[in-house]
Amino acid sequence: MSNLHQDSASVSVANTTPAVSAAERFGVLDIPELEYTPEVARETAPLYERVRHHIPEIEWPVHAPYVHAINRIKKERNAVILAHNYQTPEIFHCVADFAGDSLQLAREAEKVDAEIIVQCGVHFMAETSKLLSPTKTVLIPDMKAGCSLAESITGEDVRLLREANPGVPIVTYVNTSADVKAESDICCTSSNAVRVVESFESDTVYLIPDEFLAQNVARQTSKKILTWKGHCEVHERFTAEELLAYKEADPAIQIIAHPECPPSVVDIADFSGSTSSMIDYAKGRKPGAKVLLVTECSMASNIEQEAKGVEFIKPCNLCPHMKRITLPKILESLVYMREEVLVDPVMAEKARHAVERMVNLKAN
Ligand code: 13P
Ligand code: SF4
Repeated sequence: MSNLHQDSASVSVANTTPAVSAAERFGVLDIPELEYTPEVARETAPLYERVRHHIPEIEWPVHAPYVHAINRIKKERNAVILAHNYQTPEIFHCVADFAGDSLQLAREAEKVDAEIIVQCGVHFMAETSKLLSPTKTVLIPDMKAGCSLAESITGEDVRLLREANPGVPIVTYVNTSADVKAESDICCTSSNAVRVVESFESDTVYLIPDEFLAQNVARQTSKKILTWKGHCEVHERFTAEELLAYKEADPAIQIIAHPECPPSVVDIADFSGSTSSMIDYAKGRKPGAKVLLVTECSMASNIEQEAKGVEFIKPCNLCPHMKRITLPKILESLVYMREEVLVDPVMAEKARHAVERMVNLKAN
């Protein structure tokens, strides 16, 4: 039994056309049997323990054959799966070799030893991996996994900003295309944005394209921060009113919010930081603590496993782009070696410089 489609087209929306496709270089594998056999049940049982609070037992036979096949093929291919913290629990806990926030994923991509990286996240993350690991084959299970921030700005927009404001350093959030990165001085993520902005001597710095991140950073630095009108469609929807209603109902609740949220939301949060620092903060709470998580839905499920004894309240919003990545698509990606992420070499050279400058920025 298999529900993979041998004949579905490999749509490579890459910036350059490879002389030889990944499928030609690595070959196409036989599709594994996707049945919930006793062997599959036995071998995936320890993995099910990690997700049993989120996946009912009756549903596990649907996921388990994929988990089993992906983990087998991953080894045969010498591939690693890098997953963002917003991936669903069965990806995050059962097939990912490494999971983390955007900065951690970039660092991991740089040092990864495997020939093939399967990026379970959105397109800009896969592109960043390709920039940092140009000789590796980087695959994304769904090329349409985009991001409202990345789509809010183009390289041409950045060129025009620079022309209009000569001498003002331009920091771009990692949630951007390679074209945008190529036009900027340095990248940043939510975990290092303040540090990156402060690494410049200039009193005025552009931090683009996330307007809310820029406003939240502006409160933590004496620099004048100029920005852009981009927003994360997931985090922009949270409001201070909805969170205050929770706090009114139970004043003991601690609120942790991602810095892509509007400043009015971050203002009332007890903690704000990247997805991984949110996990670390939650892990540091005492058992019985009540934590309100203001971020994407899967984070809430993934964090629960890591911070046992903490009670989570989850007024979450789904990221439709992150949710394009599924177990069947990861398996297809590994079987057919698609979809390969490529970046024009000239653009890649410039964009890599901006990402490497960020990755190499010292902690202090
Ligand atoms: P971080 O994991 O870096 O906090 O980024 C969050 C995000 O929105 C990624 O798309
Ligand atoms: Fe983009 Fe927001 Fe989705 Fe992250 S959560 S990929 S920033 S739309």
